[in-house]
Amino acid sequence: MIKLGVIGMGGIAYWMHVPQANATGKFYIKAAMDVTPESILAKQRDIPDYYTDYRKMLADPEIDAVIITSPHHVHEEHCVAAFEAGKHVLIEKPISRNLKEARNIMAAAERSGKIGMIGFCQRFDARYSHIKNILAKGELGELLSARIDHYQNFDPAPESWWRSKEKVGGGAVIGSGVHRLDLLRWYFGEPVSVYAKAVGMPERLEAEACAHAVIEFDSGVIANFSINWAVYGHHYYEGFSVAGKKGSIIVENGVTVSNAEMQSGEVKPVEIPPCQGMYDHFADCIINNKQPITTLEEGYRSLRLVRAIYRSIQTGKVVDPQEVEF
Ligand SMILES: NC(=O)c1ccc[n+]([C@@H]2O[C@H](COP(=O)([O-])OP(=O)(O)OC[C@H]3O[C@@H](n4cnc5c(N)ncnc54)[C@H](O)[C@@H]3O)[C@@H](O)[C@H]2O)c1
Repeated sequence: MIKLGVIGMGGIAYWMHVPQANATGKFYIKAAMDVTPESILAKQRDIPDYYTDYRKMLADPEIDAVIITSPHHVHEEHCVAAFEAGKHVLIEKPISRNLKEARNIMAAAERSGKIGMIGFCQRFDARYSHIKNILAKGELGELLSARIDHYQNFDPAPESWWRSKEKVGGGAVIGSGVHRLDLLRWYFGEPVSVYAKAVGMPERLEAEACAHAVIEFDSGVIANFSINWAVYGHHYYEGFSVAGKKGSIIVENGVTVSNAEMQSGEVKPVEIPPCQGMYDHFADCIINNKQPITTLEEGYRSLRLVRAIYRSIQTGKVVDPQEVEF
């Protein structure tokens, strides 16, 4: 069993990381750390050791690996400390708020020689890896255009760090959009130009609530990215489509429609599996000393696309993501 510690025992740690890591049967969650003196969430998940100082938790020699599920403004501090303590690290997205912090994390990982992985769970979602396989086999022919969205009615509690532009490193684009931008990079290569616009919702967030971007990839694909945290009165929605010269794929709320399915009149709903696959992969990387699919470098490049979108919003100009360094 790989012994794990959690830094930031909040919503996503409680609902996703701890149960999914446990479900693999390969991890034992030994400790959790948070800033509150007592954690009901850690107790409810039967985690035996609880700390309010991450340094003390990292000093436990029995802990092999750490999950970082703290707010974005402390990702750099927590990740660097975890690598320096000789732990393997799974970092929730985004790797950090900006590229300078990300480079510090990557340098610490390099010095430690430990596994560093980004929690881009969508790459371990069976629907999206199925699409990756179809694209890799060239089944859709030359790819032309794509669309990806994320819609959510996001209204964080008044005291939540999620409302702070400084703590989050932005708004909806870095908060949820980074997952979708990472998928676009996974499928279509590196972005070569970005043009974006955004709008705010100051009663809920200091930074942007909605943004749209047109992104051109080195594969020639053009994509339309749309993020919206202000979908009042509607449920969570994520869509994706890609069009090639031999066929297309359209994903709407978990239903995949391909040319073949349309011709046969049969449309199969696909269940979204939980992120257990991400933890199976993390365990495999630790045990067999392999680099993960979602390396820190991948986290850096997807964050660079986020930062390029922010620069385009700020300047009103088309931006080359490769030239963005902060
Ligand atoms: N994969 C996904 O779909 C998904 C969804 C939600 C959040 N996330 C990511 O997970 C991370 C956490 O988000 P969340 O929604 O669980 O937030 P949250 O606010 O629910 O939980 C964060 C926890 O960190 C604690 N914390 C605050 N400052 C701390 C510090 N200095 N040291 C240690 N702990 C500290 C808070 O007390 C809280 O319990 C973020 O990186 C976020 O982007 C991912």
